[in-house]
Amino acid sequence: MRTHRPIFLTLLLGMTAGPMAGAADVVTIGASQDNTIFSENGASSNGAGDHFFAGRTKDGFLRRGLLAFDVDAAVPAGSQINSVTLTLHLSRTRTGNQNVSLYRVLSDWGEGTSHASGEEGTGSAAATHDATWTHRKYPSLVWSSAGGDFAATARATSVVSNQTGFYTWSSASMVADVQAWLNGTQPEYGWIVRSNETDTRVVKRFDSRTNPTTARRPMLTVDFTPPAATGACCATDGSCSVVLDPGSSCSGTYQGSDSLCTPNPCPQPTGACCLPDAAATCQAESEGNCTGLGGTFQGAFSSCVTAQCPVVLTPFLDPLPIPAVATPVIGFSGGSATYVISMREVQQQLHAQLPPTTVWGWGTGASGASSPGPTIEAAVGKSVTVNWVNDLRNTSAGGNPPPLRTTHYLPVDTCPHGALANADARTVVHLHGAHVQSAFDGHPDATYPPGQFAAYTYPNWQLPATLWYHDHALGITRLNVYMGLAGFYLLRDAYEKSLPLPSGEFEIPLAIQDRSFNPDGSLQYPAWWQEVFFANTILVNGKAWPYLNVKKGKYRFRLLNGSTSRTYALTLSNGASFQQIGAEGGLLPAPVTLNKITLGPGERADAIVNFAPYSTNTEIVLRNSAPAPFPGEPGVGVVPNVMKFIVTNQTGYTAALPATLRPMEVLQEADATQFREFHLEKGPGDACSPFLWFIRSVVGGTVVGEHWEDLTEFPELGDTEVWKFVNKSGMTHPMHMHLVMFQVLDRQAFEVVGGNIVPIGSPVPPPPHEAGWKDTVQVGPNEIVRVIARFENYAGLFPYHCHILEHEDHEMMRQFQSVATVPACQDGIDNDGDGRTDFAGGDPGCSSASDLGERAAHLACDDGIDNDGDGRADFELVTFNDGANGWSAGGGDRGCAGPGSFSESPHCQDGIDNDAATNDPEKAGTDWDGGLDAGRPPDPAGADPNCAQPYRDCERVSCGGCGLGFELVLLLPALLWLHRRRRGT
Ligand code: C2O
Ligand code: CU
Ligand code: CU
Repeated sequence: MRTHRPIFLTLLLGMTAGPMAGAADVVTIGASQDNTIFSENGASSNGAGDHFFAGRTKDGFLRRGLLAFDVDAAVPAGSQINSVTLTLHLSRTRTGNQNVSLYRVLSDWGEGTSHASGEEGTGSAAATHDATWTHRKYPSLVWSSAGGDFAATARATSVVSNQTGFYTWSSASMVADVQAWLNGTQPEYGWIVRSNETDTRVVKRFDSRTNPTTARRPMLTVDFTPPAATGACCATDGSCSVVLDPGSSCSGTYQGSDSLCTPNPCPQPTGACCLPDAAATCQAESEGNCTGLGGTFQGAFSSCVTAQCPVVLTPFLDPLPIPAVATPVIGFSGGSATYVISMREVQQQLHAQLPPTTVWGWGTGASGASSPGPTIEAAVGKSVTVNWVNDLRNTSAGGNPPPLRTTHYLPVDTCPHGALANADARTVVHLHGAHVQSAFDGHPDATYPPGQFAAYTYPNWQLPATLWYHDHALGITRLNVYMGLAGFYLLRDAYEKSLPLPSGEFEIPLAIQDRSFNPDGSLQYPAWWQEVFFANTILVNGKAWPYLNVKKGKYRFRLLNGSTSRTYALTLSNGASFQQIGAEGGLLPAPVTLNKITLGPGERADAIVNFAPYSTNTEIVLRNSAPAPFPGEPGVGVVPNVMKFIVTNQTGYTAALPATLRPMEVLQEADATQFREFHLEKGPGDACSPFLWFIRSVVGGTVVGEHWEDLTEFPELGDTEVWKFVNKSGMTHPMHMHLVMFQVLDRQAFEVVGGNIVPIGSPVPPPPHEAGWKDTVQVGPNEIVRVIARFENYAGLFPYHCHILEHEDHEMMRQFQSVATVPACQDGIDNDGDGRTDFAGGDPGCSSASDLGERAAHLACDDGIDNDGDGRADFELVTFNDGANGWSAGGGDRGCAGPGSFSESPHCQDGIDNDAATNDPEKAGTDWDGGLDAGRPPDPAGADPNCAQPYRDCERVSCGGCGLGFELVLLLPALLWLHRRRRGT
């Protein structure tokens, strides 16, 4: 705003010749920066907040506001400042009259992206460049004296009462400051705003330049006399600048004497305007028109040829799909069972407005697949074997069946460690949350290309929980999971089933994942590795923004964040709460009422939502408010919709929830024998990348390991350890450990002072919803999180990593090696929970005192247990009957060659041709025979070309010539064998 006064002030300029001075003008300038500094914490700030504060709190802490104005951008050089008025809007106050004074700031300071929550009174963690009590610009530049550098005498003082509203400051000293800023004799560092710092509870809250109400933002009104008449000059990019009359220095279009730049009179150029539709429509518009059309302006002169407008889909058009329950080939769902599950490339419609999308899913039949894959239902103590088949075929190449893939579907950046130069569609399956031996854990190096499979046995000796399976291929996990390779694995036990919890149609797994699309429906993912990737559309169970019709009653949702980078902060749009009953590792001791559930990538929550109170047709949206990256800046990068619930007129599950769920063993820090420390941070890069994300093992202040190959942790089986994650970066890392479930001990903020980690305050124990068994935990910026875990049963290599898959594919994944020292069969502990202890105690899992594991020994052929889930236990004869397939057979376990066999699993010494997948006699072979092949020239592989050693766990096949449905062929020999065996042939 500017007004004109027909007063000539030539005399004030003291000139007798030269250009004639122009008319006095008034310009109102908004703050260029503002912030609050908080005396109690050298790392708190509120740069991007709606408010700033001055005065002393009830706890005795000081707040000071900082304000700066860009005077020389708004007032022509050479002007004479006549008067200056600062206007601030008071929006909250605890006391009456206080003197609030301005002091001239003497050094440069900054405003970052920190944004305190709620009333903003306590500030938030400083972001880069934020001013704090200690820092001029966090984290590297500090004030010469804490609390800010400013001239000792106040420049202006006004009384601020207990009435909210506008207050002004005006003085000759302020005129002098503004004149000095304009002339360049003082840098434009602005003023610091101080209130009563003696009494307590006197803080005044003013509105900041980022306040949503424009009229309440700080304003500096400057009355000045320009050195000569001026006018507005319009540049071709639509920007406006004030130049001297008659505009001879204007390189654009001069708007005439005394014309103004506020409001901007310049014609605005056009640019690409992205309209919010599924076709990703782009058209040339001016910025104003584009906004009017609901579009997103891509910048002046930008072109639709290069604009790459996003596909924007209408939310809540499609019903929520619920993944089918997987059907085993042997045994039954929910019990001991063997599955054949194939990863396949299929076309799946992800939204009504999109053409079908090529995804990678999982299928149990001869063809077909879905993403997420079918849900595996498992029971504690009943082992499940899955033949994970990589049957990825290039569906766009034609043919029936199409050829096995030799390349990935997505572009592969071969730079990240482990991504092979030949960029193929290698996969390996990890059951996330499973307590399983290393050979079946889906080690990231154990990948195999299309045409091969791996058989993994999950003993299911652990607490029931929401597990999930997903690809874990070194260097390309992000791509494989983004393509769709994920699914649920729900482990239950009789106790959990006895609890009154919603089940059947009232228990629904929800896999939440973000995806972006090209207008042809294909998935969009960057060709080159990026440290995070946030897509713009949310899928739940493989549909974009679906809806679910719900009955009036309670539902149990198994929530999974299956995204690569995105965190979700989930709320219900009507403000209703969730009852969280479980975390990653199973049930909590009791339900916890929460309004918001925040899940980082890999985390799960088992939560009840009650729709009983709502009238028919009520619509409730599951919303997300988590910024991306997380925790980030409020509102930035948020995709607000997840899915919608529509309440029908039917009554559902209405029983009361149990008050308690499952008693939990609380691990004790006093029992820990190892304390390990890990620093999460960016470090120097390599030939591929300007930096690398690291998990650095720190011992006694020294980094002892930081790479995947660096083995520095050797937990001993039976030991309890405390792992401390110190996040020295600006974003949250969801840290995941394989093999174990852990418990969060505590969290603590810290700051880095002179390179040292200095904790702030005392460690805080986890809130109740985080106090259960977990396998993934969020470690926030400048936060220390300690977890405690007991390492048990399985010796071997296991990964631990950040579950942001882009970080995991970088260098944020390492491995520990668990080692057995005291044989489990003489440790006096009932390790496998079968009620018997050790060798002397008669535990059938212990064949001798020196057995390394009671539980590992369950994989033996004389333990009375069906370890490989084929429906038969051990060597002795049992009856096997599969009614569904109409065939039956008798006999012991086909994986057991005799009662002393080490393992029931397919094995290179079980006497069985497990991999007879082809009819090629050259390839037929049984076990390892030391290189003596009947009817074939001797070769080092022995009778079975896939057995290089007698004790290999698995005769993995190389499936050259098999087509769709080769799993059935794979099973045929087993079926024939069963048949023959029954008939005694
Ligand atoms: Cu879900 Cu090692 O990962
Ligand atoms: Cu895992
Ligand atoms: Cu990370």
